[in-house]
Amino acid sequence: MKIIAGNSNLPLARAIAGYLELPLTDASVRRFADEEVFVEIHENVRGEDVFVVQSTSYPTNDNLMELLIITDALRRASAKRITAVMPYFGYARQDRKPLPRTPISAKLVANLITTAGADRVLAVDLHAGQIQGFFDIPTDNLFAAPTMAADILARNGGGELMVVSPDVGGVVRARALAKRLNNAPLAIVDKRRDKPGQSEVMNIIGDVKGRTCIMIDDIIDSGGTLCNAAQALMDAGAASVTAYISHGVLSGAAVERVTNSALKELVITDSILPTDATRDSDRIRILSIAPLIGEAMRRIADESSVSSLFD
Ligand code: R5P
Repeated sequence: MKIIAGNSNLPLARAIAGYLELPLTDASVRRFADEEVFVEIHENVRGEDVFVVQSTSYPTNDNLMELLIITDALRRASAKRITAVMPYFGYARQDRKPLPRTPISAKLVANLITTAGADRVLAVDLHAGQIQGFFDIPTDNLFAAPTMAADILARNGGGELMVVSPDVGGVVRARALAKRLNNAPLAIVDKRRDKPGQSEVMNIIGDVKGRTCIMIDDIIDSGGTLCNAAQALMDAGAASVTAYISHGVLSGAAVERVTNSALKELVITDSILPTDATRDSDRIRILSIAPLIGEAMRRIADESSVSSLFD
């Protein structure tokens, strides 16, 4: 098996390669003067089982283009099988038509990756599980929950934990984490706007008084969802609120918003390369999912079970 990295998250690609005790394949992924992406693979890959590690995070379109062009280069170099390893799958939130005459960009991106020549996809905490069905090639969706649960249990031994979903859409994800935390109770933040023009009201379903709340979500982008939910939980009497989020998109002033929020701590994974501001924040901690992704890659290469990683 061979591992090739795009430029989106080289530290993660190196950590995965370290876990697998393999070198990264010698390749250059660079730009021409006009910013076109150019890829050159400096090793023979004919007949190889190749994994391309590339998150389609910011700058999303550049990173997506790198993934497509690396895949095309591998296909034309006769790689036996190409797996697109996407720790973060950008465009995933555009998975349906919210309004008339809008695109389903997640499906378009899935088509692009398949057309470029990928034979498989390996992703982590897809925004919606159904996105697997947008690909007509085998797609594994890994979960960061076991890594998060181990960290939560190590830090909150006997605490009165309560798992909280910051919106109604995240209940399945929250329930899965609660199960791993010795069946901790569940609460839900229900955001409602009764009439257009009125401000949103946060209702908490569940009694969070005195509880150590663990909020879970797939993405933190602007930080609005999470910081507002954290404030609502503290107002309802929670002892503390810590958030565990798979993908730290953290656009714009998100790090500042988190720093000034009611959150005790934000824990994200390294699916997206952290910015300096994220790395420097004493309110944000990063858990590595390199071992999880590396182990899944090993199992794909060995043709053994990936789902048993989550038993
Ligand atoms: C939405 O469905 C997602 O699960 C996240 O809750 C959302 O993307 C977070 O975005 P923001 O941080 O901008 O509120």
